Amino acid sequence: MSVYKLNVFTCRAVWKCKAFSSRNMHLLQDKAFVNGRWIAAASNNTFQVTNPADGCVIGVVPDMNTADVQQAIGAAKSAFDSWQNTTAKERGKILRKWFDLMEQNGDELAKIMTAESGKPITESKGEVVYGNSFIDLYAEEARRINGEIIQSPMPSKKILIERQPIGVAALITPWNFPHAMITRKAGAALAAGCTVVVKPAEDTPLTALALAKLAEEAGVPQGVFNVITCDRQNASDVGNLLCTSDDVAGVSFTGSTAVGKILYKQCAQGIKRLGLELGGNAPLVVFDSANLAVAVNGTMASKFRNCGQTCVSANRLLIQSKIYDTYVDELSKAIKGLKQGRGDEAGVTAGPLINKAQFDKVSALVKDALDKGAKAVVGGKPAPQLGDLFYEPTMLVNVTSDMRVYNEEVFGPIATVLKFETEEEGIKIANSTNSGLAGYFFSEDVNQIFRVARKMEVGMVGVNEGLISCAEAAFGGIKESGLGREGSHHGIEEYTYYKYVCVGNLN
Ligand code: SIN
Repeated sequence: MSVYKLNVFTCRAVWKCKAFSSRNMHLLQDKAFVNGRWIAAASNNTFQVTNPADGCVIGVVPDMNTADVQQAIGAAKSAFDSWQNTTAKERGKILRKWFDLMEQNGDELAKIMTAESGKPITESKGEVVYGNSFIDLYAEEARRINGEIIQSPMPSKKILIERQPIGVAALITPWNFPHAMITRKAGAALAAGCTVVVKPAEDTPLTALALAKLAEEAGVPQGVFNVITCDRQNASDVGNLLCTSDDVAGVSFTGSTAVGKILYKQCAQGIKRLGLELGGNAPLVVFDSANLAVAVNGTMASKFRNCGQTCVSANRLLIQSKIYDTYVDELSKAIKGLKQGRGDEAGVTAGPLINKAQFDKVSALVKDALDKGAKAVVGGKPAPQLGDLFYEPTMLVNVTSDMRVYNEEVFGPIATVLKFETEEEGIKIANSTNSGLAGYFFSEDVNQIFRVARKMEVGMVGVNEGLISCAEAAFGGIKESGLGREGSHHGIEEYTYYKYVCVGNLN
């Protein structure tokens, strides 16, 4: 049932909100989805979801605690008994139906996403296509989860390797991609025969619930796909339960490295299967040999997508000395061409930051850099005329290794530029971090391309390309950026285990 039908006060707030001018949004939910039913928290507690562009309340959802979540885990565990025994073809068919409904409801999903995350509507539409593509892919991959028969050294024994689903998977997802981070995990899990409990970020639960609504319409059996919602103060207890419950077989988390380390420790207790897609500090290196226009376009795509709030955002721009001045000029022009504003306004390419904590962090990082001698060539300050959470797209030069922007993941619209002389120096700076998610470089020299791609200490490299994500590719990092891979057929690995079956005493 939509929020419009339930709570007259919320309805008024929502109607006043520019984000949802249409009353025909059937995907907006104000309940969690557990065991095929829409339920409130047992305590009846709720929390508000706001639009970062204007602070307006756009929804109210249950603030669940560990007792509520235990119920969801129980539902997923019961449903696993039958879901694991469905055929891959049956699971693929249901996933395909879910995908079709996501396609049909793409505009509504995008509107909800822009309202709760602030991202420009064109980016939300792009994320709908991207997010849907994981369900499309895994609808097909389900029937390619094959085992092996291995050559036996003994004629009386057959050696079979079967792949089986691990069980209940807990999926803890972030606010920066409210749709795609759910489908990337859930698509693989459901295809493998696992059941899931999704805990979306408190900033963006409405997209997750909209996906649950479509799962219900697609005929996903009850208990197979559950979405529980909770506010920030319940999040750590709920996370702890998901990581320590004996009934959860595996956890997949996308979010900060700091939280990932906590979950890693919690999962150790039960030796849980764990997938971690954590923070990055992506270098983007432009060599003298680069095509400048390609490099500037690639930088804009990588740095400013979702206002810089992506784990794979270029965090440090390393520019070789001969091309440095021209690159800085061209990049400044491109940044000045961005249009800031609320995501639902036509032509907007840069929205607000997600919340006050993120806004304060970005402001503090820029201040620290300016205090230590960096120069803002473009931007460099908040844009309060647009709203409380807007920060100007910024370019900082004269960045040095003692600055926080050099060492920390910025997660904001701040391009930080450093100059280097030789290829060795560029690679050394690029690798001088504990993170290793994505890295990018621009070069037209084929020998350099293969040399540098090999030397970059990251899980994913974009060569002459700033946008590398797609469902068919294996997404993930090394070092402190995570464990495991998502997307592609490799994504299924996280949700299956190999069982060796020895059939003996054969004649
Ligand atoms: C992320 O930022 O966590 C994901 C980005 C992507 O899938 O491209």
